[in-house]
Amino acid sequence: MSFIQLENLTKYFNGSADPAVASLNLTIQKGEIITLLGPSGCGKTTTLRMIAGFEHPNKGTIHIDGKEVYNEAQSLPPEKRGIGMVFQDYALFPHMTIMKNVMFGLGKWSARDKKQRAKEVLELVGLEGYANRYPTQLSGGQQQRVALARALAPKPHVVLMDEPFSNLDAGLREKMRFDVTNILRKANTTAIIVTHDQKDAFAVSDRVVVMKDGIIQQIASPREMYRCPKNCFVAQFVGKTNLLTGIMDDDKMNIHTHIGKVTLPEQWKERLETVKLSIRPEGCHLTEKGAYCGVVERVTYGGEYQELYVRLHNEPHLSKEPMLIYAPIEQDVEVGTIVSFNIKPELVALVE
Ligand SMILES: Nc1ncnc2c1ncn2[C@@H]1O[C@H](COP(=O)(O)OP(=O)(O)OP(=O)(O)O)[C@@H](O)[C@H]1O
Ligand SMILES: [Mg+2]
Repeated sequence: MSFIQLENLTKYFNGSADPAVASLNLTIQKGEIITLLGPSGCGKTTTLRMIAGFEHPNKGTIHIDGKEVYNEAQSLPPEKRGIGMVFQDYALFPHMTIMKNVMFGLGKWSARDKKQRAKEVLELVGLEGYANRYPTQLSGGQQQRVALARALAPKPHVVLMDEPFSNLDAGLREKMRFDVTNILRKANTTAIIVTHDQKDAFAVSDRVVVMKDGIIQQIASPREMYRCPKNCFVAQFVGKTNLLTGIMDDDKMNIHTHIGKVTLPEQWKERLETVKLSIRPEGCHLTEKGAYCGVVERVTYGGEYQELYVRLHNEPHLSKEPMLIYAPIEQDVEVGTIVSFNIKPELVALVE
C-alpha cells in the first residue's frame, strides 16, 4: 500500500448541488512532494482539509502510513493523524518567541526533549540564531521557515501546506520555493502543497495534480505535464499554448491543420479522425525557409524572450487565433515583419 492513499474522496457542502471534490483518487509515496494545482474554487483546500481531518468527506477513505484515518463510519481527529500543517498566513503566535512557537506542537514531550527538538528543526530551516526573537522581528520568508519548523517538529507523517508562497513578493517567492523544497527533502518528509501558481508547482514537486471543478485532470511530473498535457484545460493551465484542430493522417503521426501539416513526436497508438493539438510557443522556432510562414500581428517583450503573434500566410481562417511563438530577444522583429518558422515535434501533444 502507498504511504498516503485517498480513495473516492467526495465532498458536498450544504446547499450545493455540485461536489467541491468528486471521487478523488490519489496515492502518494513516502518522501514525495506533491502539489495540488488548479484555479480558484477547484477544491484544493477542501482536499487538504479532508486529509488533515478538519473537514469530513461524504464518501471515500483516507489512509496515512498504512492506517485508515477516515472511512464513512469513523474518523480519526486531526491531532491523531500525524500531520504538520503550514497555514497561508503562517499562524505564528505573536506573543511567543520563535523557540516557544516551535516547541508548541510537541505537547507531551519532556521540556528537555522539546528544547532539543526545537533546536534541531530551527537549525534545519537555517534559523538557529533566531530562537529568542518574536515573529514580528522576522521577515516574511523567515516567518514561513518558522512555520515549517513548527510543522516538522513533531516528526509528522506528512506536511500539508496551503498556498505557502502567496504572501511573498516575487524574488523571495523564488528563494522560498528552493528553501522549502530543500528543507522538506532534508527532513525526508512527505508533503502535499496547495497552489494556484504553475511556477510554484513545477519548482517544488515530484508530481503535480491538476484539478478543475473538484475533479483531477492529470497527475504527472512537471516535465511530463508540460510536454504531454492530457487535455485542453491542462495544456492552457500549465503555461501558454496554441490549440489547433486537425485531421490525422494514415501514418498516425502527421496532422493536417489550418496552418499546414504538424508532426507528432511519435506515432499515435491508434488512428483517429479529428484531433486536438497543443503546440507550445517554445516549440516554434524562427528559421529561414521554415515550413510555416506568416506576418507578425503583435509583439510582447517578455524580458527573457519576445512573444510573437503570427498570422500564417496560408491561413484563410481569420477567425482563428494567430500562432504564439517565442523568439530570442536579440532577434529584430516588429509588427508587420514576415517570419518563417519550424515546429519541434517534441513540443506538440495530442490532447483531449
Ligand atoms: N465551508 C464551506 N461551505 C460551503 N462551500 C464551501 C466551503 N468551503 C469551500 N466551499 C466551496 O467549495 C469549492 C472548493 O473550495 P476550495 O476552498 O477547496 O477551493 P480552492 O481550490 O482551495 O480555491 P482557492 O484557490 O480560491 O483557495 C468552492 O466552490 C467553494 O465555494
Ligand atoms: Mg484554497
